[in-house]
Amino acid sequence: MGDSASGALSGETFNYKIVRQFAVMTVVWGIVGMAVGVLLAAQLIWPALNFDVPWLTYGRLRPLHTNAVIFAFGGSALFATSYYVVQRTCQARLFSAPLAAFTFWGWQAVIVAAAITLPMGYTSSKEYAELEWPIDILITLVWVAYAVVFFGTIVKRRTRHIYVANWFFGAYILTIALLHIVNNLEWPATMWKSYSAYAGVQDAMVQWWYGHNAVGFFLTTSFLGMMYYFVPKQAERPIYSYRLSIVHFWALSFTYMWAGPHHLQYTALPDWAQSLGMVFSLILLAPSWGGMLNGIMTLSGAWHKLRTDPILKFLVVALSFYGMSTFEGSMMSIKTVNSLSHYTDWTIGHVHSGALGWVAMITIGSLYYLFPRLFGQKQMYSTRMIELHFWIATLGVVLYIAAMWIAGVMQGLMWRAVEPDGTLTYTFVESVKATYPFYVVRLLGGVCFLGGMLLMAWNFVMTARGRRPFDAPVPAPAPVSVAARPQLA
Ligand code: HEM
Ligand code: HEM
Repeated sequence: MGDSASGALSGETFNYKIVRQFAVMTVVWGIVGMAVGVLLAAQLIWPALNFDVPWLTYGRLRPLHTNAVIFAFGGSALFATSYYVVQRTCQARLFSAPLAAFTFWGWQAVIVAAAITLPMGYTSSKEYAELEWPIDILITLVWVAYAVVFFGTIVKRRTRHIYVANWFFGAYILTIALLHIVNNLEWPATMWKSYSAYAGVQDAMVQWWYGHNAVGFFLTTSFLGMMYYFVPKQAERPIYSYRLSIVHFWALSFTYMWAGPHHLQYTALPDWAQSLGMVFSLILLAPSWGGMLNGIMTLSGAWHKLRTDPILKFLVVALSFYGMSTFEGSMMSIKTVNSLSHYTDWTIGHVHSGALGWVAMITIGSLYYLFPRLFGQKQMYSTRMIELHFWIATLGVVLYIAAMWIAGVMQGLMWRAVEPDGTLTYTFVESVKATYPFYVVRLLGGVCFLGGMLLMAWNFVMTARGRRPFDAPVPAPAPVSVAARPQLA
């Protein structure tokens, strides 16, 4: 355990440089992406905040927000943690430093290209796949390099066992490659305009097969990989049930692939496909909760640490939000529930209980574990600052999602209310007006969450200040037990 140099192989070190680079950019892009989210939340209250500048209009900034938080913030976090975890659990230096460096610079180039083209209005108009074809090609190249680096490290591992976190990271890398290529098959018309290879309902089905699995693999499976390393490390306990982690892995990977049609309830998609999506979404609850409980129960015998350890608080609260958002998602996929929730802010509440509560919180907890180690430190500069971050982030998520739930259910009910003569009780504008107070609460929640990210950035700077980057030595392979509960390097 730990980064001790004892038993180190002659001179070989882990490649922490690439982990440091991605870790720093995670915080940078997190702040940028969330700041754009805060601006969007403000624009929904005060539309004049677009200042009549086309680049700042809601329609252009919204995809900028989703791309920045999912692919820039989430993506950089996943590169950083997967590169760290695969090295440590395989007890081997990362395969090919130049290729790893290419993934860093290539991914940053993708993000910068997105940040320029989206506000200019260039878009393929597929949600979460808006980037135009030249950028799509760059993404493909970076992703292939990522797969070579990651699986190359697995191949050169010094341990017999492939720790379960790597299975989750590996599945996410393979699946995202498949999703990205299939959904982005398109005919280029000009340099910045292309047309999808699919049309009509087939286009919708491919798009939401992609969209849902982007959530399933980019925002869930991968972050479970993070969970399976950082929760046991921070709790200093082995995973509660290693067997459950394997069952949960296969069940989750299989089930996610079929759930996409729940995004297309009551559309032109054949009815049987909609029902299939609903049924698989309900089944999905079982592996989702299996993973959540496995993470939470890892704290068995270490619950007392929650009182004093704010990093563990981030990780455990993230798991609770994971449990909550997956329960909610399964319920929302039921057709009758979806007929109320679809098009309303309830969906936005669900999205952010997953995105802020699960994705961002597990990332923040993992980064607080990781960051001092990348500079040869035992802990962050200020633990009290982490504690403060934890409370304002939690408050922020709760304000955000509670406001959106109430607003969403209210909107759904107002839209379907009818008078005895069959006319609508409320006009659409009345429902918009009634939503204003909730938009203000959501904005407040967003500001809290963003404030927490700024505290984190400051804590990171203070931790790294005056320290030299540290690359831990690769330890000699210990006699590893491949029994039920592998110990983590
Ligand atoms: C068992 C797990 C889950 C199920 C069954 C599920 C189900 C659903 C359903 C039914 C919708 C609404 C579709 C609509 O009416 O348009 C939805 C939307 C969404 N969910 Fe989930 N969800 C799950 C977990 C998650 C998690 C953990 C996250 C985030 C980390 C997430 C992110 C999203 C996003 C981004 C959307 C909005 C998609 C869009 O329309 O743009 N979901 N989900
Ligand atoms: C300070 C934090 C954040 C704020 C204030 C914020 C705000 C917003 C706003 C205002 C929207 C548009 C909602 C609408 O059109 O009605 C939105 C959409 C979205 N946000 Fe965020 N956001 C934040 C963080 C995040 C994070 C960290 C993620 C992902 C990891 C995320 C993922 C998304 C997604 C996927 C959508 C599109 C949802 C859909 O189409 O159904 N957000 N956000």
